[in-house]
Amino acid sequence: VELDGGLFDENARLMAGVTPQFAHIGDLTTSSGATISNAKIAYQTFGEFTGENAILICHALTGTSNVVGWWDRIVGPGLAIDSDKYFVVGNNLLGGCQGSTGPSTVVDGKPLGSRFPVITIADQVTAQARLLEFLGVRNLHAVVGCSTGGFHALHWSVSSDIPISKVVVSASGARQNARQLALNEAARQAIMRDPKWKGGDYSLDDPPAQGLSVARMIGHIAYLSGEALELKFGRNPQGADIGLTLGAEFAVESYLNYQGDKFVERFDANSLLYLTRAANFFDLQSLNGADTEFLFIAYSSDTLFPPSMSEELHKMAHEANCVSQLAVIDLPYGHDAFLLDGEQQGEAIKCFLASE
Ligand code: COA
Repeated sequence: VELDGGLFDENARLMAGVTPQFAHIGDLTTSSGATISNAKIAYQTFGEFTGENAILICHALTGTSNVVGWWDRIVGPGLAIDSDKYFVVGNNLLGGCQGSTGPSTVVDGKPLGSRFPVITIADQVTAQARLLEFLGVRNLHAVVGCSTGGFHALHWSVSSDIPISKVVVSASGARQNARQLALNEAARQAIMRDPKWKGGDYSLDDPPAQGLSVARMIGHIAYLSGEALELKFGRNPQGADIGLTLGAEFAVESYLNYQGDKFVERFDANSLLYLTRAANFFDLQSLNGADTEFLFIAYSSDTLFPPSMSEELHKMAHEANCVSQLAVIDLPYGHDAFLLDGEQQGEAIKCFLASE
């Protein structure tokens, strides 16, 4: 089966026979003191492991272990994170729904649902650390994280028991700001106010799909810049002309509905609640204790994690006496630029990973 890119289409890949592997990581005590029993993490590796060449990739909110799928412009043979050279480890976050233990994991005949505890970025990093232990990785050439995956990479840099040579953080920050918290809350309310949510204990055959779809629409607007939406759609009609109806008359409306409905096919509503919650609580005050080199990448049009957030991280790295580089890339795509930009981001990552 050819892994030819296409973002996030894990379901299609699973159907095509490209399944992740699973690391059983035992019982995990969370920051809140709860226990997640018999946790498992879905992972995929690319390239040969030589002992010194491992790169851990931390996905954004709704990504998967299939890093050559969702980051197809950055990861793969001959690309910036070159699987001919590095042993690339993709993984699905604890709390996710693409193979790792999360609220949709069926235990005693029912999804965990509300039995799944609130988790933190630190809990998810603990799970990743156990995955690396399972794989026999005892040092990392790099940890790379984008968007909220950047939180995991940053937490790795200040908490790791194993040496990490380099850390790349793209389109991220030290914490979410009030606007991000607000957007996440609106998305969660869309799910939790859907009568089908049932306090989190819905059947996987009858999920709160309407709420999840609206939640994704809220997210999707934030992922694109105003400029990107304007360039893509402007006020174009979806049909021949604009009718005076409540339906999706504008192309941008149709697009948003499409993106919302498509998401429902691949994602669990509870997972979105738990993953956004973990991201909300992350609040990095300093990089003191980090013993690594940093590369921070930001996009000029990203209003979710604007360049000022990467500038703050770059400053924190210097204050912690770490070598740090900052690349601010001028592209109009908004937050999604980290997924779409293979070229400039790729060049920055490639040089950074190869540097002595
Ligand atoms: N009505 C309905 N559907 C429309 C449409 C319209 N007027 N115009 C475009 N579409 C559909 C296209 O048919 C296409 O469908 P397909 O994906 O099934 O082939 C899709 O919209 C194209 O989406 P678009 O956003 O224009 O693609 P892109 O290449 O610019 O960006 C992604 C790709 C994956 C980055 C983007 O679609 C996306 O999903 N962004 C969110 C990713 C994410 O989670 N980011 C945040 C991480 S924290």
